[in-house]
Amino acid sequence: MSLRKVKIAGTGSYIPQRVLTNADLERMVATSDEWISSRTGIKERRIADENEAASDLAYHAARRALKNAQVKPEDLDMIIVATITPDMIFPATACILQEKLGARKVAAFDLEAACSGFLYGLTVGSQFIATGMYDTILVVASETLSKIVDWQDRNTCVIFADGAGAAVIGPSSDSGRIISSYLGADGGGADLVKVPAGGSRLPASFQTVQNRQHYMKMKGNELFKTAVRAMIHAIHASLEEGNLKSSDVDYFIPHQANMRIIDAVVKKVGLSQDKVHINLEQCGNMSAASVAVGLDEAVRGKKIKKGDKVLLTCFGGGVTWASIVIEW
Ligand code: COA
Repeated sequence: MSLRKVKIAGTGSYIPQRVLTNADLERMVATSDEWISSRTGIKERRIADENEAASDLAYHAARRALKNAQVKPEDLDMIIVATITPDMIFPATACILQEKLGARKVAAFDLEAACSGFLYGLTVGSQFIATGMYDTILVVASETLSKIVDWQDRNTCVIFADGAGAAVIGPSSDSGRIISSYLGADGGGADLVKVPAGGSRLPASFQTVQNRQHYMKMKGNELFKTAVRAMIHAIHASLEEGNLKSSDVDYFIPHQANMRIIDAVVKKVGLSQDKVHINLEQCGNMSAASVAVGLDEAVRGKKIKKGDKVLLTCFGGGVTWASIVIEW
């Protein structure tokens, strides 16, 4: 069977209105703008309203992606939502989004690969397009990390933020295509970042809430080293699969966890700093949404032009990692 080429037909993103600055955080926990800026590169982040859930952010990002792809919700064949902060444990946020968008009763499901979720989602969705089973798929990464971070824990609350990014994918009739995808995971690192309670291992109870186990716990330092190694490995693997060298990359959109992680990866892979997309200064770490929002910003800001080779690389909880090369 010959496989079809898959392209990104349109992107969209949405970040909540409310800005939380490092100065605001100084009033909440024992931290400083100096510490946050120098250790992470983050200056401010966007935080969802109390009544704003992942599907609400996803809806706005999806509407924009559909408009840019000139696709009507009723033309969608499948909806994939990548998130670690779903509206509820179930039903899937993708089903809630399907109803909000007024899409047909098509396949809809959530995918959980933490910060790597958007690239996992693009890769999974691409298989249905490539085989000809479906023609139009919406992939959304939507996160409301502010709802699961412990606002008393300075190790995590200064880093994570909220936002959503979306892409419509479909068959390509020109040179634009996803050239290669590489996905990886290592459950040996499952303890590095997690929300211990609220699942079947430790169901939510008065005790788990009192122990603050329904909030995210992170071993930042270990995660840092693992992230650098995994991202470098994923980049090399995806470039190799596409028969490309790092000098072929025209634009790089890395996961926005920490400026020092990005700098280390860029240096080691030998990419040029001026080709790297950064949004963590204003957006913080939006988990799966970071690269999705970054891609939309790059498209809107005309950082990417037809024919460019665009590299997207992520690392996240699980631990998971992923890298995709696109010819735009
Ligand atoms: N403000 C001030 N001090 C802080 C702080 C904050 N917000 N957070 C932690 N500290 C303190 C620690 O308590 C520690 O103090 P101690 O030496 O007295 O024990 C000190 O700063 C150093 O902590 P450490 O964790 O070693 O710092 P770091 O340089 O590794 O930076 C992270 C911390 C979290 C910024 C960094 O490890 C990181 O970005 N890791 C990867 C995160 C990540 O990618 N997460 C999700 C996957 S997407």
